[in-house]
Amino acid sequence: MIRQPDDWHLHLRDGEILDSLVDVTARVFRRAIVMPNLNPPITTIQAAISYRQRILSSLKEGLDFQPLLTAYLTDDLSPKVLKDGFEQKVFFAAKLYPANSTTNSSKGVTDINVISPLIETMENIGMPLLIHGEVTDPDIDIFDREAVFIDKHLMPLLKRYPGLRVVLEHITTEKAVQFVESCDAQLGATITPHHLHINRNAMFLGGLRSDFYCLPIAKREHHRLALRRAATSGRSCFFLGTDSAPHLRGAKVSSCGCAGIFNAKYALESYVEVFDEEEALDKLEAFASENGPNFYGLPLNEKFIKLVQRNYLVEELYEVKNERGSLDHLVPFHAGERLHWHALSVENRM
Ligand code: NCD
Ligand code: ZN
Repeated sequence: MIRQPDDWHLHLRDGEILDSLVDVTARVFRRAIVMPNLNPPITTIQAAISYRQRILSSLKEGLDFQPLLTAYLTDDLSPKVLKDGFEQKVFFAAKLYPANSTTNSSKGVTDINVISPLIETMENIGMPLLIHGEVTDPDIDIFDREAVFIDKHLMPLLKRYPGLRVVLEHITTEKAVQFVESCDAQLGATITPHHLHINRNAMFLGGLRSDFYCLPIAKREHHRLALRRAATSGRSCFFLGTDSAPHLRGAKVSSCGCAGIFNAKYALESYVEVFDEEEALDKLEAFASENGPNFYGLPLNEKFIKLVQRNYLVEELYEVKNERGSLDHLVPFHAGERLHWHALSVENRM
């Protein structure tokens, strides 16, 4: 039994597919930070309010789930919109996508210096800044983009705004682990299940496997091991964020496939597998259910979730409806593999 967890980094998308995604997360997670990289992105208070409405109307009756909406930072977003949205409790945080760093990031920030008025505002009002920490310079090797971002942008940013609370999202390198550990309470980091399970070889096992292509891209084995040590350390700066990022089968299997892994279906189970393998099940609750709320200053969830050992096969395909309303598919993370833990329904502590 662990306290009910939250997902501090989630993509729920929009339109027809939203209906197939909300309950998958809400089955297990009480809250989720919902990323704003829709097309068009969430850049206004009104857009966030109506997106939240659409999420909640997709939610099955009886499930208790709270989506926490984020603003998508752009070069020309006004500090007033950010401040009003935060004070009205519509925007929980703001997300910085370096322009063209990942899916739907073309409207992202071209240069962090351009948005200093936004960052100053966030520091003043206590609004968390969530960062996709990769440089986009094509001359920088894709496997180095996170490390270079930390040196070139993150370190100066934290120095310049000492009161700013920052989350480095979906960390993938040993360097990120060490840097986050060195930063006290100003900086936290989310860690995805897939970066705990796979290294970069997964993308090339017997051929090109786009199901394992995500951003930041999976790195060498020693980085994966460093992430495992971080997640299972119990340290308060590391918390659960799945970065579940579904793309329809056709968008993944393509000559220019999209980045993103759909892991929400068995996200908690996938993490439990890691903690079990690392003989650190006693640290799971801190990572999944305590460190995140503590970082964000939110109460811990009051319900609990039971984890049972059960050996089962993960389905190859998960059915969803596409934009035309017809049947389509996502490939869940762990497709065709066996998992050994199952999360049962949410309940009050006996
Ligand atoms: C995400 C997506 O598809 O929205 N993709 C991914 O590979 N993680 C965007 C992101 O978080 O980078
Ligand atoms: Zn993401």
